[in-house]
Amino acid sequence: MKYFLQILFLSVLVLSSCKKISEEKIVEAETFVTEAAPITAENAMVVSARTEASKIGTEILQKGGNAFDAMIATELALAVCYPYAGSLGGGGFMVYRTQYGEIGALDYREKAPLAASRNMYLDKNGNFQPEKSTRGGLAVGVPANLAGLFAVHEKFGSLPIEILLEPVIQLATKGFAVTQMQAERFREFREEFLTYNDGEFLFTENFQVGDTLKNPALANTLIRISKNGRREFYGGETGKKLVDFLKSKGGIITLKDLENYEAQWREPIVFSYKDLRIISMSPPSSGGICLAQILKMIEPYPISSFGHNSIEYIQLLAEAEKRAYADRSNYLGDPDFVEIPTDSLLSEEYLLRRMMNFSFEKATPSEEISPGKIEGYESSETTHYSIVDQFGNAVSATITLNSEYGSKLYAKELGFFLNNEMDDFSAKPGVPNVYGLTGGEANSIAPAKRMLSAMTPTIVEKNGELYMVVGTPGGATIITSVLQTILNVYEFDMNMQQAVKAPRFHHQWLPDAIRYEKNRFDPSLIDALKDKGYPENKAADPIIGKVDAILILANGQLQAGADPRGDDTAAGF
Ligand code: DON
Repeated sequence: MKYFLQILFLSVLVLSSCKKISEEKIVEAETFVTEAAPITAENAMVVSARTEASKIGTEILQKGGNAFDAMIATELALAVCYPYAGSLGGGGFMVYRTQYGEIGALDYREKAPLAASRNMYLDKNGNFQPEKSTRGGLAVGVPANLAGLFAVHEKFGSLPIEILLEPVIQLATKGFAVTQMQAERFREFREEFLTYNDGEFLFTENFQVGDTLKNPALANTLIRISKNGRREFYGGETGKKLVDFLKSKGGIITLKDLENYEAQWREPIVFSYKDLRIISMSPPSSGGICLAQILKMIEPYPISSFGHNSIEYIQLLAEAEKRAYADRSNYLGDPDFVEIPTDSLLSEEYLLRRMMNFSFEKATPSEEISPGKIEGYESSETTHYSIVDQFGNAVSATITLNSEYGSKLYAKELGFFLNNEMDDFSAKPGVPNVYGLTGGEANSIAPAKRMLSAMTPTIVEKNGELYMVVGTPGGATIITSVLQTILNVYEFDMNMQQAVKAPRFHHQWLPDAIRYEKNRFDPSLIDALKDKGYPENKAADPIIGKVDAILILANGQLQAGADPRGDDTAAGF
Protein backbone atom coordinates (compact mmCIF):
# COMPACT_ATOMS: atom_id res chain seq x y z
CA MET A 1 0.00 0.00 0.00
CA LYS A 2 1.29 3.39 -0.89
CA TYR A 3 1.30 5.86 1.92
CA PHE A 4 1.39 9.58 1.39
CA LEU A 5 3.80 10.71 4.04
CA GLN A 6 2.67 14.11 5.12
CA ILE A 7 5.28 14.90 7.66
CA LEU A 8 6.05 18.52 8.14
CA PHE A 9 9.06 19.65 10.09
CA LEU A 10 8.29 22.81 11.97
CA SER A 11 10.69 25.30 13.31
CA VAL A 12 12.82 24.19 16.22
CA LEU A 13 11.97 25.96 19.41
CA VAL A 14 15.14 27.01 21.08
CA LEU A 15 14.48 27.07 24.78
CA SER A 16 17.30 27.47 27.19
CA SER A 17 15.44 25.67 30.02
CA CYS A 18 15.23 22.38 28.18
CA LYS A 19 17.99 22.25 25.66
CA LYS A 20 18.05 18.56 24.87
CA ILE A 21 14.37 18.39 24.01
CA SER A 22 14.17 21.78 22.41
CA GLU A 23 16.75 20.71 19.89
CA GLU A 24 14.29 18.11 18.57
CA LYS A 25 11.90 18.98 15.80
CA ILE A 26 8.12 18.96 15.98
CA VAL A 27 6.65 16.40 13.61
CA GLU A 28 3.21 17.36 12.43
CA ALA A 29 0.70 15.33 10.48
CA GLU A 30 -1.26 17.88 8.49
CA THR A 31 -4.31 15.93 7.36
CA PHE A 32 -4.89 12.38 6.30
CA VAL A 33 -7.07 12.87 3.30
CA THR A 34 -5.98 9.83 1.34
CA GLU A 35 -4.08 6.87 2.69
CA ALA A 36 -3.54 5.87 6.26
CA ALA A 37 -0.06 7.26 6.87
CA PRO A 38 1.36 6.46 10.29
CA ILE A 39 3.11 9.48 11.75
CA THR A 40 5.72 8.76 14.39
CA ALA A 41 7.59 10.76 16.99
CA GLU A 42 10.55 9.74 19.14
CA ASN A 43 9.75 11.35 22.47
CA ALA A 44 6.31 12.84 22.93
CA MET A 45 3.07 13.32 21.07
CA VAL A 46 -0.28 15.15 21.23
CA VAL A 47 -3.17 14.15 18.96
CA SER A 48 -6.26 16.39 18.99
CA ALA A 49 -9.07 17.81 16.88
CA ARG A 50 -7.03 20.86 15.79
CA THR A 51 -3.48 21.44 14.64
CA GLU A 52 -3.12 24.57 16.85
CA ALA A 53 -4.11 22.64 19.98
CA SER A 54 -1.76 19.73 19.23
CA LYS A 55 1.09 22.18 18.61
CA ILE A 56 0.44 24.17 21.78
CA GLY A 57 0.39 20.94 23.83
CA THR A 58 3.65 19.86 22.21
CA GLU A 59 5.27 23.25 22.88
CA ILE A 60 4.41 22.90 26.55
CA LEU A 61 6.11 19.50 26.56
CA GLN A 62 9.13 21.06 24.86
CA LYS A 63 9.31 23.63 27.61
CA GLY A 64 9.82 20.69 29.98
CA GLY A 65 6.18 20.36 31.01
CA ASN A 66 4.60 16.93 31.50
CA ALA A 67 1.51 15.33 29.90
CA PHE A 68 -0.72 16.91 32.55
CA ASP A 69 0.61 20.41 31.85
CA ALA A 70 0.12 19.70 28.14
CA MET A 71 -3.42 18.54 28.86
CA ILE A 72 -4.33 21.90 30.38
CA ALA A 73 -2.88 23.87 27.46
CA THR A 74 -4.34 21.53 24.81
CA GLU A 75 -7.83 21.53 26.26
CA LEU A 76 -7.92 25.31 26.63
CA ALA A 77 -6.52 25.72 23.11
CA LEU A 78 -9.42 23.58 21.90
CA ALA A 79 -11.76 25.99 23.71
CA VAL A 80 -10.32 28.71 21.46
CA CYS A 81 -9.97 26.99 18.08
CA TYR A 82 -12.54 24.18 18.31
CA PRO A 83 -15.67 25.87 19.74
CA TYR A 84 -17.77 23.05 18.27
CA ALA A 85 -16.93 20.99 21.34
CA GLY A 86 -14.10 22.66 23.24
CA SER A 87 -15.14 25.34 25.73
CA LEU A 88 -14.93 26.60 29.28
CA GLY A 89 -18.67 25.82 29.32
CA GLY A 90 -18.62 22.01 29.18
CA GLY A 91 -17.00 19.09 30.99
CA GLY A 92 -15.20 15.82 30.49
CA PHE A 93 -13.35 12.77 31.75
CA MET A 94 -9.67 11.89 31.87
CA VAL A 95 -7.81 8.63 32.39
CA TYR A 96 -4.09 8.72 33.13
CA ARG A 97 -1.11 6.45 33.55
CA THR A 98 2.07 7.91 34.97
CA GLN A 99 5.61 7.02 33.99
CA TYR A 100 5.67 4.84 37.11
CA GLY A 101 2.60 2.85 36.04
CA GLU A 102 0.20 4.52 38.50
CA ILE A 103 -3.26 4.83 37.05
CA GLY A 104 -6.28 6.99 37.83
CA ALA A 105 -9.29 8.81 36.44
CA LEU A 106 -10.77 12.28 36.78
CA ASP A 107 -14.49 12.97 36.55
CA TYR A 108 -15.09 16.59 35.57
CA ARG A 109 -18.56 15.94 34.32
CA GLU A 110 -21.18 18.70 34.52
CA LYS A 111 -23.83 18.44 37.24
CA ALA A 112 -27.52 19.21 37.31
CA PRO A 113 -28.10 22.60 38.97
CA LEU A 114 -29.40 22.57 42.57
CA ALA A 115 -32.76 23.85 41.30
CA ALA A 116 -33.12 20.96 38.82
CA SER A 117 -35.95 18.49 39.28
CA ARG A 118 -36.92 15.09 38.00
CA ASN A 119 -39.70 16.22 35.66
CA MET A 120 -38.27 19.56 34.59
CA TYR A 121 -38.45 18.67 30.88
CA LEU A 122 -42.00 17.29 30.95
CA ASP A 123 -45.06 19.37 30.07
CA LYS A 124 -48.23 19.31 32.15
CA ASN A 125 -49.39 16.15 30.37
CA GLY A 126 -46.15 14.38 31.21
CA ASN A 127 -44.75 14.60 27.67
CA PHE A 128 -41.00 15.05 27.23
CA GLN A 129 -40.05 18.40 25.61
CA PRO A 130 -36.66 17.70 23.98
CA GLU A 131 -36.31 21.35 22.93
CA LYS A 132 -35.90 22.30 26.58
CA SER A 133 -33.19 19.78 27.44
CA THR A 134 -31.17 20.52 24.29
CA ARG A 135 -31.47 24.29 23.60
CA GLY A 136 -31.19 27.47 25.66
CA GLY A 137 -30.61 28.17 29.36
CA LEU A 138 -32.47 25.25 30.91
CA ALA A 139 -30.35 22.70 28.98
CA VAL A 140 -27.10 23.79 30.65
CA GLY A 141 -25.36 21.66 33.27
CA VAL A 142 -22.90 23.25 35.72
CA PRO A 143 -19.72 23.79 33.63
CA ALA A 144 -16.77 21.73 34.78
CA ASN A 145 -13.78 22.06 32.39
CA LEU A 146 -11.84 24.50 34.54
CA ALA A 147 -12.54 22.62 37.76
CA GLY A 148 -11.07 19.54 36.09
CA LEU A 149 -8.01 21.31 34.72
CA PHE A 150 -7.23 22.99 38.03
CA ALA A 151 -7.61 19.63 39.83
CA VAL A 152 -5.11 18.14 37.36
CA HIS A 153 -2.75 21.06 37.90
CA GLU A 154 -2.91 20.76 41.64
CA LYS A 155 -2.11 17.05 41.62
CA PHE A 156 0.32 16.71 38.70
CA GLY A 157 1.19 20.12 37.24
CA SER A 158 4.88 21.00 36.96
CA LEU A 159 4.72 24.40 35.24
CA PRO A 160 2.86 27.48 36.55
CA ILE A 161 -0.66 28.08 35.22
CA GLU A 162 0.43 31.41 33.67
CA ILE A 163 2.99 29.59 31.52
CA LEU A 164 0.37 27.05 30.42
CA LEU A 165 -2.23 29.68 29.57
CA GLU A 166 0.13 32.09 27.83
CA PRO A 167 0.12 30.38 24.38
CA VAL A 168 -3.65 29.88 24.63
CA ILE A 169 -4.21 33.57 25.34
CA GLN A 170 -1.97 34.35 22.37
CA LEU A 171 -4.05 32.03 20.19
CA ALA A 172 -7.30 33.73 21.23
CA THR A 173 -5.74 37.18 20.71
CA LYS A 174 -3.92 36.62 17.42
CA GLY A 175 -6.48 34.17 16.06
CA PHE A 176 -6.38 31.01 14.01
CA ALA A 177 -7.23 30.09 10.42
CA VAL A 178 -10.81 28.88 9.87
CA THR A 179 -10.89 25.45 8.19
CA GLN A 180 -13.33 24.31 5.52
CA MET A 181 -15.21 22.15 8.01
CA GLN A 182 -15.48 25.02 10.47
CA ALA A 183 -16.71 27.52 7.88
CA GLU A 184 -19.40 25.05 6.83
CA ARG A 185 -20.49 24.41 10.39
CA PHE A 186 -20.71 28.11 11.26
CA ARG A 187 -23.01 28.52 8.25
CA GLU A 188 -25.01 25.43 9.16
CA PHE A 189 -25.70 26.62 12.70
CA ARG A 190 -26.11 30.37 12.01
CA GLU A 191 -29.91 30.29 12.18
CA GLU A 192 -29.92 28.40 15.46
CA PHE A 193 -27.27 30.72 16.92
CA LEU A 194 -29.50 33.68 16.09
CA THR A 195 -32.58 31.97 17.52
CA TYR A 196 -31.06 31.31 20.94
CA ASN A 197 -28.92 34.46 21.35
CA ASP A 198 -29.54 38.20 21.18
CA GLY A 199 -28.54 39.21 17.69
CA GLU A 200 -25.26 38.72 15.81
CA PHE A 201 -22.07 37.64 17.58
CA LEU A 202 -18.60 36.37 16.68
CA PHE A 203 -19.75 33.02 15.32
CA THR A 204 -22.57 34.40 13.19
CA GLU A 205 -20.02 36.36 11.13
CA ASN A 206 -19.62 35.01 7.63
CA PHE A 207 -16.21 33.36 8.08
CA GLN A 208 -14.61 31.93 4.95
CA VAL A 209 -11.95 29.25 4.75
CA GLY A 210 -8.60 30.72 5.73
CA ASP A 211 -10.04 33.77 7.52
CA THR A 212 -8.42 34.58 10.86
CA LEU A 213 -10.79 34.15 13.78
CA LYS A 214 -9.83 36.15 16.89
CA ASN A 215 -11.72 35.92 20.17
CA PRO A 216 -10.70 38.87 22.39
CA ALA A 217 -13.54 38.22 24.88
CA LEU A 218 -12.23 34.71 25.53
CA ALA A 219 -8.66 36.05 25.71
CA ASN A 220 -9.78 38.44 28.48
CA THR A 221 -11.56 35.66 30.38
CA LEU A 222 -8.40 33.54 30.16
CA ILE A 223 -6.23 36.45 31.32
CA ARG A 224 -8.43 36.84 34.43
CA ILE A 225 -8.28 33.09 35.08
CA SER A 226 -4.51 33.11 34.66
CA LYS A 227 -4.32 35.90 37.26
CA ASN A 228 -6.98 34.84 39.75
CA GLY A 229 -7.05 31.06 39.36
CA ARG A 230 -9.97 28.64 39.70
CA ARG A 231 -12.05 30.98 41.83
CA GLU A 232 -12.36 33.47 38.98
CA PHE A 233 -14.80 31.03 37.35
CA TYR A 234 -16.26 29.28 40.39
CA GLY A 235 -17.33 32.37 42.34
CA GLY A 236 -15.45 35.37 40.96
CA GLU A 237 -16.20 37.97 38.27
CA THR A 238 -16.41 35.44 35.42
CA GLY A 239 -18.73 33.19 37.43
CA LYS A 240 -21.02 36.11 38.31
CA LYS A 241 -21.21 37.26 34.69
CA LEU A 242 -21.99 33.71 33.62
CA VAL A 243 -24.78 33.30 36.15
CA ASP A 244 -26.34 36.64 35.13
CA PHE A 245 -26.16 35.66 31.48
CA LEU A 246 -27.76 32.27 32.07
CA LYS A 247 -30.51 33.80 34.18
CA SER A 248 -31.35 36.17 31.32
CA LYS A 249 -31.76 33.06 29.14
CA GLY A 250 -34.09 31.13 31.45
CA GLY A 251 -31.27 29.15 33.07
CA ILE A 252 -31.34 28.07 36.72
CA ILE A 253 -27.62 27.80 37.54
CA THR A 254 -26.69 29.95 40.51
CA LEU A 255 -23.40 31.13 41.99
CA LYS A 256 -23.85 28.46 44.64
CA ASP A 257 -23.85 25.78 41.92
CA LEU A 258 -20.51 27.12 40.70
CA GLU A 259 -19.06 27.48 44.19
CA ASN A 260 -20.08 23.92 45.09
CA TYR A 261 -18.71 22.27 41.98
CA GLU A 262 -15.76 19.92 42.50
CA ALA A 263 -14.12 17.55 40.03
CA GLN A 264 -13.77 13.99 41.46
CA TRP A 265 -10.81 11.64 41.26
CA ARG A 266 -12.24 8.19 40.60
CA GLU A 267 -10.99 4.62 40.37
CA PRO A 268 -10.88 3.72 36.69
CA ILE A 269 -12.43 0.52 35.30
CA VAL A 270 -9.58 -1.96 34.84
CA PHE A 271 -9.90 -5.32 33.07
CA SER A 272 -8.00 -7.74 30.89
CA TYR A 273 -8.62 -8.64 27.26
CA LYS A 274 -6.36 -11.52 26.30
CA ASP A 275 -2.87 -10.21 27.20
CA LEU A 276 -3.94 -6.58 27.28
CA ARG A 277 -4.75 -4.63 30.44
CA ILE A 278 -7.33 -1.97 29.69
CA ILE A 279 -7.89 1.12 31.86
CA SER A 280 -11.01 3.09 31.08
CA MET A 281 -13.50 5.58 32.51
CA SER A 282 -15.74 4.64 35.39
CA PRO A 283 -19.24 5.98 36.16
CA PRO A 284 -20.75 8.49 35.76
CA SER A 285 -19.51 7.45 32.35
CA SER A 286 -20.81 4.18 31.01
CA GLY A 287 -17.74 3.98 28.75
CA GLY A 288 -15.44 1.73 30.79
CA ILE A 289 -18.10 -0.70 31.99
CA CYS A 290 -19.67 -1.12 28.52
CA LEU A 291 -16.26 -1.47 26.84
CA ALA A 292 -15.29 -4.12 29.39
CA GLN A 293 -18.56 -5.99 29.00
CA ILE A 294 -18.30 -6.08 25.21
CA LEU A 295 -14.65 -7.13 25.13
CA LYS A 296 -15.23 -9.83 27.73
CA MET A 297 -18.27 -11.16 25.82
CA ILE A 298 -16.30 -11.46 22.55
CA GLU A 299 -13.01 -12.66 24.11
CA PRO A 300 -13.73 -16.41 23.75
CA TYR A 301 -14.20 -16.15 19.95
CA PRO A 302 -11.45 -16.48 17.30
CA ILE A 303 -11.91 -12.88 16.20
CA SER A 304 -8.91 -12.39 13.92
CA SER A 305 -9.84 -15.50 11.94
CA PHE A 306 -13.28 -14.03 11.16
CA GLY A 307 -11.60 -11.21 9.19
CA HIS A 308 -12.01 -7.45 9.68
CA ASN A 309 -15.60 -6.25 9.12
CA SER A 310 -16.69 -9.73 8.02
CA ILE A 311 -20.26 -10.90 8.58
CA GLU A 312 -19.29 -13.00 11.60
CA TYR A 313 -17.25 -10.18 13.13
CA ILE A 314 -20.07 -7.64 12.73
CA GLN A 315 -22.61 -10.11 14.12
CA LEU A 316 -20.53 -10.94 17.16
CA LEU A 317 -19.81 -7.31 18.03
CA ALA A 318 -23.41 -6.23 17.39
CA GLU A 319 -24.76 -8.92 19.71
CA ALA A 320 -22.32 -8.08 22.50
CA GLU A 321 -23.06 -4.36 22.01
CA LYS A 322 -26.83 -4.94 22.29
CA ARG A 323 -26.40 -6.72 25.59
CA ALA A 324 -24.03 -4.10 27.03
CA TYR A 325 -26.22 -1.13 25.99
CA ALA A 326 -29.28 -2.87 27.48
CA ASP A 327 -27.45 -3.13 30.81
CA ARG A 328 -26.31 0.48 30.49
CA SER A 329 -29.90 1.68 30.20
CA ASN A 330 -30.86 0.03 33.43
CA TYR A 331 -27.95 -0.02 35.82
CA LEU A 332 -25.74 2.98 35.10
CA GLY A 333 -25.89 6.52 36.47
CA ASP A 334 -24.00 8.82 38.86
CA PRO A 335 -22.28 6.59 41.46
CA ASP A 336 -22.76 9.34 44.07
CA PHE A 337 -26.52 8.78 43.71
CA VAL A 338 -27.08 5.18 42.63
CA GLU A 339 -25.51 1.92 43.58
CA ILE A 340 -23.87 0.38 40.53
CA PRO A 341 -23.31 -3.39 40.56
CA THR A 342 -19.95 -3.06 38.79
CA ASP A 343 -18.49 -6.37 39.94
CA SER A 344 -21.57 -8.32 38.88
CA LEU A 345 -21.81 -6.53 35.55
CA LEU A 346 -18.18 -7.38 34.84
CA SER A 347 -18.12 -10.93 36.17
CA GLU A 348 -16.99 -13.47 33.56
CA GLU A 349 -19.71 -15.88 34.59
CA TYR A 350 -22.44 -13.24 34.10
CA LEU A 351 -21.05 -12.19 30.71
CA LEU A 352 -20.75 -15.79 29.49
CA ARG A 353 -24.37 -16.33 30.50
CA ARG A 354 -25.36 -13.15 28.68
CA MET A 355 -24.02 -14.56 25.38
CA MET A 356 -25.51 -18.03 25.79
CA ASN A 357 -28.48 -17.35 23.49
CA PHE A 358 -26.24 -15.88 20.75
CA SER A 359 -26.05 -17.82 17.49
CA PHE A 360 -24.33 -17.02 14.19
CA GLU A 361 -27.47 -18.39 12.48
CA LYS A 362 -29.83 -15.61 13.42
CA ALA A 363 -29.92 -12.30 15.32
CA THR A 364 -31.24 -12.16 18.86
CA PRO A 365 -33.94 -9.48 18.61
CA SER A 366 -33.36 -6.55 20.99
CA GLU A 367 -36.81 -7.03 22.49
CA GLU A 368 -35.61 -10.41 23.74
CA ILE A 369 -32.58 -8.79 25.38
CA SER A 370 -33.76 -7.10 28.48
CA PRO A 371 -31.12 -5.87 30.90
CA GLY A 372 -29.50 -8.91 32.54
CA LYS A 373 -30.63 -10.07 35.99
CA ILE A 374 -28.12 -9.11 38.63
CA GLU A 375 -28.48 -11.04 41.88
CA GLY A 376 -28.94 -8.83 44.91
CA TYR A 377 -29.42 -5.69 42.89
CA GLU A 378 -32.62 -3.76 43.37
CA SER A 379 -34.23 -1.95 41.86
CA SER A 380 -25.96 8.84 27.34
CA GLU A 381 -20.44 17.55 20.82
CA THR A 382 -17.47 16.14 22.07
CA THR A 383 -13.76 15.94 21.33
CA HIS A 384 -10.94 13.68 22.44
CA TYR A 385 -7.19 14.22 22.77
CA SER A 386 -4.40 11.80 23.58
CA ILE A 387 -1.03 12.76 25.02
CA VAL A 388 2.17 10.86 25.77
CA ASP A 389 5.04 12.90 27.16
CA GLN A 390 8.84 12.48 27.03
CA PHE A 391 8.82 11.01 30.53
CA GLY A 392 6.30 8.24 29.74
CA ASN A 393 3.18 9.78 31.31
CA ALA A 394 -0.03 9.28 29.34
CA VAL A 395 -3.26 11.28 29.35
CA SER A 396 -6.47 10.26 27.61
CA ALA A 397 -9.19 12.94 27.85
CA THR A 398 -12.61 13.33 26.28
CA ILE A 399 -14.49 16.62 26.72
CA THR A 400 -17.87 17.77 25.53
CA LEU A 401 -20.55 20.42 25.16
CA ASN A 402 -22.85 17.49 24.29
CA SER A 403 -24.47 18.53 20.96
CA GLU A 404 -22.75 20.70 18.37
CA TYR A 405 -21.98 24.04 20.13
CA GLY A 406 -23.97 22.65 23.10
CA SER A 407 -27.11 24.60 23.97
CA LYS A 408 -26.20 27.09 21.17
CA LEU A 409 -26.07 29.70 23.93
CA TYR A 410 -22.96 31.89 23.60
CA ALA A 411 -21.80 34.03 26.51
CA LYS A 412 -20.67 36.97 24.35
CA GLU A 413 -18.91 38.84 27.10
CA LEU A 414 -16.96 35.76 28.17
CA GLY A 415 -16.30 34.27 24.73
CA PHE A 416 -17.60 30.70 24.94
CA PHE A 417 -20.59 28.40 24.28
CA LEU A 418 -22.51 26.61 27.05
CA ASN A 419 -23.22 22.88 27.13
CA ASN A 420 -26.59 21.13 26.82
CA GLU A 421 -25.48 18.20 28.91
CA MET A 422 -28.82 18.02 30.77
CA ASP A 423 -30.10 16.01 27.76
CA ASP A 424 -27.83 13.14 28.81
CA PHE A 425 -30.16 12.49 31.74
CA SER A 426 -33.08 10.21 31.20
CA ALA A 427 -35.78 12.92 31.24
CA LYS A 428 -38.52 10.31 31.10
CA PRO A 429 -37.94 6.57 31.46
CA GLY A 430 -37.93 4.81 28.10
CA VAL A 431 -37.95 8.02 26.02
CA PRO A 432 -34.77 8.35 23.96
CA ASN A 433 -32.42 11.38 24.14
CA VAL A 434 -30.68 13.02 21.11
CA TYR A 435 -28.48 9.94 20.69
CA GLY A 436 -31.49 7.61 20.74
CA LEU A 437 -30.32 6.29 24.12
CA THR A 438 -32.97 5.30 26.59
CA GLY A 439 -32.48 5.12 30.33
CA GLY A 440 -34.34 4.60 33.55
CA GLU A 441 -34.32 5.41 37.21
CA ALA A 442 -30.55 5.18 37.64
CA ASN A 443 -30.11 8.15 35.28
CA SER A 444 -33.11 10.25 36.34
CA ILE A 445 -32.60 13.97 37.05
CA ALA A 446 -31.82 15.10 40.61
CA PRO A 447 -30.23 18.26 42.01
CA ALA A 448 -26.38 18.18 41.85
CA LYS A 449 -26.41 14.77 40.12
CA ARG A 450 -24.11 13.99 37.21
CA MET A 451 -25.74 12.81 33.97
CA LEU A 452 -24.65 9.46 32.53
CA SER A 453 -22.06 9.66 29.78
CA ALA A 454 -20.73 7.36 27.08
CA MET A 455 -17.29 9.01 26.99
CA THR A 456 -14.56 6.39 26.99
CA PRO A 457 -11.07 7.84 27.41
CA THR A 458 -8.94 4.70 27.56
CA ILE A 459 -5.35 3.60 28.10
CA VAL A 460 -4.13 0.11 27.17
CA GLU A 461 -1.10 -1.73 28.55
CA LYS A 462 0.61 -4.73 27.00
CA ASN A 463 3.09 -6.78 28.98
CA GLY A 464 2.90 -4.21 31.73
CA GLU A 465 4.00 -1.39 29.42
CA LEU A 466 2.08 1.54 27.98
CA TYR A 467 0.63 0.36 24.63
CA MET A 468 -2.17 2.66 23.46
CA VAL A 469 -3.93 5.92 24.39
CA VAL A 470 -7.33 6.21 22.71
CA GLY A 471 -10.72 7.94 22.75
CA THR A 472 -13.30 9.66 20.56
CA PRO A 473 -16.44 11.82 20.40
CA GLY A 474 -19.67 10.42 18.96
CA GLY A 475 -22.38 10.18 21.63
CA ALA A 476 -23.63 6.62 21.88
CA THR A 477 -21.07 5.47 19.28
CA ILE A 478 -18.09 6.45 21.45
CA ILE A 479 -17.85 3.08 23.16
CA THR A 480 -18.08 1.03 19.97
CA SER A 481 -15.58 3.28 18.14
CA VAL A 482 -12.98 2.84 20.90
CA LEU A 483 -13.71 -0.88 20.88
CA GLN A 484 -13.15 -1.24 17.12
CA THR A 485 -9.96 0.87 17.20
CA ILE A 486 -8.39 -1.37 19.85
CA LEU A 487 -9.43 -4.52 17.96
CA ASN A 488 -8.16 -3.12 14.64
CA VAL A 489 -4.65 -2.87 16.07
CA TYR A 490 -4.65 -5.90 18.31
CA GLU A 491 -6.64 -8.45 16.29
CA PHE A 492 -6.13 -7.18 12.73
CA ASP A 493 -2.54 -5.89 12.89
CA MET A 494 -3.33 -2.40 11.61
CA ASN A 495 -1.06 0.54 12.36
CA MET A 496 -2.56 3.29 14.50
CA GLN A 497 -3.58 5.47 11.56
CA GLN A 498 -5.15 2.57 9.64
CA ALA A 499 -7.01 1.53 12.77
CA VAL A 500 -8.45 5.01 13.20
CA LYS A 501 -9.34 5.37 9.53
CA ALA A 502 -11.00 1.96 9.04
CA PRO A 503 -14.79 1.94 8.47
CA ARG A 504 -16.88 1.61 11.63
CA PHE A 505 -20.30 0.21 12.50
CA HIS A 506 -22.43 0.45 15.63
CA HIS A 507 -25.30 -1.21 17.51
CA GLN A 508 -26.81 0.22 20.71
CA TRP A 509 -29.58 -2.28 21.50
CA LEU A 510 -32.36 0.20 20.70
CA PRO A 511 -33.14 0.81 17.94
CA ASP A 512 -32.61 -2.83 16.97
CA ALA A 513 -30.49 -2.05 13.89
CA ILE A 514 -26.84 -1.69 12.83
CA ARG A 515 -25.46 1.70 11.81
CA TYR A 516 -22.74 1.63 9.12
CA GLU A 517 -20.55 4.52 8.01
CA LYS A 518 -21.96 5.79 4.76
CA ASN A 519 -20.54 4.24 1.56
CA ARG A 520 -17.86 2.38 3.47
CA PHE A 521 -19.49 -1.06 3.60
CA ASP A 522 -20.32 -3.33 0.69
CA PRO A 523 -24.12 -3.29 0.11
CA SER A 524 -24.05 -7.08 -0.33
CA LEU A 525 -22.62 -7.45 3.20
CA ILE A 526 -25.31 -5.17 4.60
CA ASP A 527 -27.94 -7.27 2.76
CA ALA A 528 -26.48 -10.54 4.04
CA LEU A 529 -26.71 -9.20 7.60
CA LYS A 530 -30.29 -8.05 6.98
CA ASP A 531 -31.11 -11.63 5.99
CA LYS A 532 -29.77 -12.80 9.33
CA GLY A 533 -32.01 -10.41 11.24
CA TYR A 534 -29.90 -7.25 11.45
CA PRO A 535 -31.79 -4.34 9.87
CA GLU A 536 -29.81 -1.27 8.80
CA ASN A 537 -30.08 1.93 10.83
CA LYS A 538 -29.87 4.66 8.19
CA ALA A 539 -28.89 7.42 10.60
CA ALA A 540 -28.32 10.79 9.00
CA ASP A 541 -24.78 11.18 10.33
CA PRO A 542 -22.46 9.65 7.69
CA ILE A 543 -19.53 9.12 10.09
CA ILE A 544 -19.12 7.25 13.35
CA GLY A 545 -16.70 8.67 15.91
CA LYS A 546 -13.56 10.74 15.37
CA VAL A 547 -10.79 8.84 17.11
CA ASP A 548 -7.49 10.39 18.20
CA ALA A 549 -4.99 7.84 19.47
CA ILE A 550 -1.33 7.06 20.08
CA LEU A 551 0.31 3.62 19.81
CA ILE A 552 3.58 2.96 21.55
CA LEU A 553 5.69 0.77 19.25
CA ALA A 554 8.02 -1.97 20.47
CA ASN A 555 11.02 0.31 19.77
CA GLY A 556 9.50 3.01 21.97
CA GLN A 557 8.44 5.26 19.10
CA LEU A 558 5.02 6.89 19.25
CA GLN A 559 2.69 6.28 16.32
CA ALA A 560 -0.26 8.62 15.77
CA GLY A 561 -3.82 7.95 14.72
CA ALA A 562 -5.45 11.30 13.88
CA ASP A 563 -8.91 10.84 12.46
CA PRO A 564 -9.28 11.96 8.83
CA ARG A 565 -13.02 12.36 9.46
CA GLY A 566 -12.15 15.77 10.99
CA ASP A 567 -9.32 18.32 10.99
CA ASP A 568 -7.54 16.15 13.55
CA THR A 569 -3.78 16.41 13.74
CA ALA A 570 -0.81 14.85 15.50
CA ALA A 571 2.18 16.84 16.67
CA GLY A 572 5.23 15.57 18.47
CA PHE A 573 8.99 15.53 18.70
O1 DON B 1 -21.41 12.34 27.52
C1 DON B 1 -21.86 11.84 26.51
O2 DON B 1 -21.90 10.65 26.30
C2 DON B 1 -22.37 12.77 25.40
N1 DON B 1 -22.69 14.06 25.97
C3 DON B 1 -21.32 12.85 24.35
C4 DON B 1 -21.76 13.68 23.17
C5 DON B 1 -20.92 13.47 21.97
O3 DON B 1 -20.01 12.68 21.95
C6 DON B 1 -21.29 14.25 20.77
N2 DON B 1 -20.22 14.14 19.79
N3 DON B 1 -20.20 13.74 18.71
